[in-house]
Amino acid sequence: MFVLLSFWALITITLISNAQHHPGNPANGTCIDCRDEMYENGVWHDVCTEDFTCPIHIADIENTIEGKEVRFHAKYFFGNAAFLPGTRHYEYDAILASQIDSIEKGDIGTGEVPTDNCQLCDVYAIEDAWVQCVCKIVDCPSVIAEQVELKGSLPEKDTTRDRICLTRRDDEYTIYTCAYYSDDSDFVDNLIQAST
Ligand SMILES: *[C@@H]1O[C@H](CO)[C@@H](O)[C@H](O)[C@H]1NC(C)=O
Repeated sequence: MFVLLSFWALITITLISNAQHHPGNPANGTCIDCRDEMYENGVWHDVCTEDFTCPIHIADIENTIEGKEVRFHAKYFFGNAAFLPGTRHYEYDAILASQIDSIEKGDIGTGEVPTDNCQLCDVYAIEDAWVQCVCKIVDCPSVIAEQVELKGSLPEKDTTRDRICLTRRDDEYTIYTCAYYSDDSDFVDNLIQAST
């Protein structure tokens, strides 16, 4: 019994410490900070930092968004690159699930880094100030299975915003509830337009 338990503990510890080496698995209750750039074709390029203590104003964000208008909802694949060595920074591309089959590598960017993992996320834009992403790890679609293409010279950058997100975890889902802290009053309109 003891041997079995020890074995189980070892597997669990291995799984947990493995997760820490991959983006998209932040600890429950921690925060991430991201800069999002959307290109004209609706593809996003995002740079994030995981795992820091949340600023005070984020603690109550789940209550803050309750009952607010959802202006936009869509499913996106996130192709995550690995953490930059020695940091908790990583980059990802977000591509509309409905467009994933028509996207080609050249549509995304020019710099290539290996893909670490992929997530499928339900993204909800809430009024103009918040966004919530409900994500789970999935097999990568082919266009982002091997490489994430970073910061293309084309197409043109359309909109940029910064956000801080509280993360909630359970076995299957990671939920990011985010407040924007930079302005772009056309942000949600651009988002809606790029996604149709
Ligand atoms: C995550 O944290 C919240 C708030 O502390 C808690 O209510 C919830 O049960 C936690 N979830 C898990 C899976 O530990």
